[in-house]
Amino acid sequence: MPDLLHPAYLATAVESVIRAGDVQMARVGQTMRIEKKGTIDLVTETDREIERDFRALIAERFPDHEVLGEEFSTPADRARIPEFCWVFDPIDGTTNFAHGLPIFCSSLALEIGGEAVVGAVYDPNRRELFCAERGAGAWLNGRPLRVSAAEQLIDSLLCTGFPYTVQQKPEELVGLFAHFLALSRAVRRLGSAAIDLCYVAAGRLDGFWEMQLGPWDIAAGALIVQEAGGCVSTTDGGPFESRRGNILATNGRVHDRMVDAIAEFQARFRSRNWTE
Ligand code: IPD
Ligand code: CA
Ligand code: CA
Repeated sequence: MPDLLHPAYLATAVESVIRAGDVQMARVGQTMRIEKKGTIDLVTETDREIERDFRALIAERFPDHEVLGEEFSTPADRARIPEFCWVFDPIDGTTNFAHGLPIFCSSLALEIGGEAVVGAVYDPNRRELFCAERGAGAWLNGRPLRVSAAEQLIDSLLCTGFPYTVQQKPEELVGLFAHFLALSRAVRRLGSAAIDLCYVAAGRLDGFWEMQLGPWDIAAGALIVQEAGGCVSTTDGGPFESRRGNILATNGRVHDRMVDAIAEFQARFRSRNWTE
């Protein structure tokens, strides 16, 4: 990785997510074409429009860079690690967006050799721009971000989300949700993983976990949490990789306790289901 990042990388990330947010706000609440990618997995014409525009911008500005986007990339694209890769979610929180619930954003990271070096997430409803550059810090509308100081799980506000396959096998995921309800102050489910991560970075949440996410959901947010002084790993405490889609992000102080709580729950759940 180069020692000094090109300033155009962060500028492009910020410009792109703000542009995406402007389109989202122009379209939300209006009649729009909505398709189903699965039983409950929606895609609107706005998701595709924003990703198309973004791809055109990168092709013009950085013709040797690749784009990994939710709407037009293939599973094979997702398995590859290009040298320069813009990892983009045109709308994170599409279900909220389609229903007019104002919790959605756009999320973008530039990965070099698989590691995020800049990240930007823009929430157009609150006009909040979260961004980070590896080694330089994380900011919300230009102000430095810092994770919370909560020490104990029982004093922590947690957040999670569920994959679109949750209805097929809800027991384990919902059981883990219930397990954390009993151990923490409260658990939220906002419907946008990128916003959830930015809220950990901002100290509004103390911890967030989710399984089976796409790289576009978490690449930017994970960097923003790390640069705000937080800790990011897989849910079993292993090294984080955006393409594994399994994430635990916390203020650092409650991280090990959350890893233990997940392991305890999973061991109990799996042994119970094994003997039944
Ligand atoms: C979804 C959101 C949601 C999370 C889902 C994601 P989308 O992304 O981030 O919070 O629980 O797992 O797929 O489909 O709105 O881009
Ligand atoms: Ca998403
Ligand atoms: Ca999306």
